[in-house]
Amino acid sequence: DSDNPLRPKTLEDYIGQDKAKENLRIFIEAAKKRGESLDHVLLYGPPGLGKTTLSGIIANEMGVNIRITSGPAIEKPGDLAALLTNLNPGDVLFIDEIHRLSRSVEEILYPSMEDFAIDIITGKGQMAASYHLPLPKFTLVGATTRAGQLTAPLRDRFGVVLRLEMYTPEELAQIITRSAGILDIKIDEEGALELASRSRGTPRIANRLLKRVRDFSEVISDGVITLEVAQTALDRLEIDELGLDQNDRRMLEAMIKYYRGGPVGLETLAAAIGEEAVTIEDVYEPYLMQIGFLSRTPRGRCVTAAAYEHLGYKVPANTAAAQ
Ligand code: ADE
Repeated sequence: DSDNPLRPKTLEDYIGQDKAKENLRIFIEAAKKRGESLDHVLLYGPPGLGKTTLSGIIANEMGVNIRITSGPAIEKPGDLAALLTNLNPGDVLFIDEIHRLSRSVEEILYPSMEDFAIDIITGKGQMAASYHLPLPKFTLVGATTRAGQLTAPLRDRFGVVLRLEMYTPEELAQIITRSAGILDIKIDEEGALELASRSRGTPRIANRLLKRVRDFSEVISDGVITLEVAQTALDRLEIDELGLDQNDRRMLEAMIKYYRGGPVGLETLAAAIGEEAVTIEDVYEPYLMQIGFLSRTPRGRCVTAAAYEHLGYKVPANTAAAQ
């Protein structure tokens, strides 16, 4: 995945996320000027917005190597020690899903980040020995879907915290046009914008839809993705004008049919539709909240009147949506 040709390699080629990008550009330039490694960076935001991509760009712009791993993949403190001791000065260690590190691993990560050294104890009783291992000055880039999932001590050790936001349709259209160029796919401006407006603010989805719509364009048309081809293909993929897919609709309809549009608790909803609560929170909800179809209240999730209307239901009286 790290050699995905669609991933930009420089900040220059990275479209959107202007705030995060411009700040990052400053921090990188300043660190390079001083001949230092970059401070640790925390990237957070919904999945598919380019956190892994950005970590690769950070390493590339700093002129260092990157090691990519994830919270669940680092099982024991020794696994982390092995990763850290094999880094060169300035290297980037990218830990995806960093909120899923175990407590014992987190505990050796703190001193590593702060003091660039780890203390490891091996053996028991008379055989116990402790080792002080100095580490190269590395840059930890951590990624998580929500900064709130991190323990405070971990969050506090990141000098740079960047929140990634959903992309506008115009930014996504630029990304789609760029990707189409790289993959040698023919698409016109209207086709790109149509795909973009149905990609839920997410480059990963935009790039996936681009490949699927290309298949339609080559089989049912002349290989050019126009507005009409994009509309036909996306309709057949059951992705509606707002980018909602079967999963989104199934969740909203379950809330409408079984819970009168809410409020319904997250766990209750997860059980009702057979999904994990974290999938609902990280994958479905961010976009539905962004477009104003879902609200979170202290008593649970509620479908809004706009969502009722979009799905073709009448807003019933005396429900949360009617207020
Ligand atoms: N591909 C995925 N994310 C991208 C971005 N932000 N800019 C350019 N291409 C991308």
